[in-house]
Amino acid sequence: MCAMWVQPTGGALGADVYGVDLSQPVSDETFQKILDAWGEHLVLRFSGQKLDDPTLMKFSARFGELDRAPVLAADRDNKDTAATADVIDWIAVISNLKKDGKPVGGLGSYELVWHTDMSYNPLPPRASLLYALEVPPDGGNTGFLNMYAAYETLPDKLKRAVEGKTCIHDSSRNSAGELRRGFQTTHDVTKTPGAVHPLVRLHPVTQKKALFLGRRPGAYVHGLSVEESEELLNAIWAHATQERFAWYQKWRIGDLLMWDNRCVMHRRDAFDESLRRVMHRTQIVGEPVLAG
Ligand code: SIN
Repeated sequence: MCAMWVQPTGGALGADVYGVDLSQPVSDETFQKILDAWGEHLVLRFSGQKLDDPTLMKFSARFGELDRAPVLAADRDNKDTAATADVIDWIAVISNLKKDGKPVGGLGSYELVWHTDMSYNPLPPRASLLYALEVPPDGGNTGFLNMYAAYETLPDKLKRAVEGKTCIHDSSRNSAGELRRGFQTTHDVTKTPGAVHPLVRLHPVTQKKALFLGRRPGAYVHGLSVEESEELLNAIWAHATQERFAWYQKWRIGDLLMWDNRCVMHRRDAFDESLRRVMHRTQIVGEPVLAG
């Protein structure tokens, strides 16, 4: 018998999953319930978990092949992160800590703007799983946006404007605005490096349409002049990032959140840099992006 139950947050997306200890093997029956709940609520929170990296990776791999951790900002190296050598390629360490003056992870304590994880890749990850090891008492909350709702409520004029359009997703900067290792600043958005994806994507499981925006800086809509592209992007970003589509997570140690990058964007509040925050993230390889 499966003792798991699901409590929606009451917000635009998200639900708590209770009655599952992810440090133990998860039965196929429970896993199917998790998948169903994920499809319905887009973001799931499992609280009070005790996970080491191999266990986080094992649970994550139930959702598909693990994707490599992203390249860090130019002044950092993945090998300096707190992840151990056996997991270093697969665990993204998101932390503001420093060891011997060197950051032991990515993204510091700054605000992270609304984005979709690694959507600058041709096969953007379908899911991200973020586990809280150390959290500040205040700040560093993570917001999530329901991109189905953002698409469904687009005014007709904007719905027509995004139909059949593709957009470039900038690979040169991370969500804190830092230039990644190996990239240079681009001033002309028509030359932004990164993958090109449809602005409206069809979710391969739910068959619902979602706005697929990636990140605002460096974005460019193909087939439009730069001015037209900026105007369209400003309008759809202003629509999609309204609070009515959002839900915010206030972290506690032992929270594991998983979200569906095919229909969810997220951002993070800044926090006091003197406080400790350490999260470990896995990401699951996605499928080709289908136009909606
Ligand atoms: C992320 O963008 O995946 C990190 C979010 C966070 O640090 O809360």
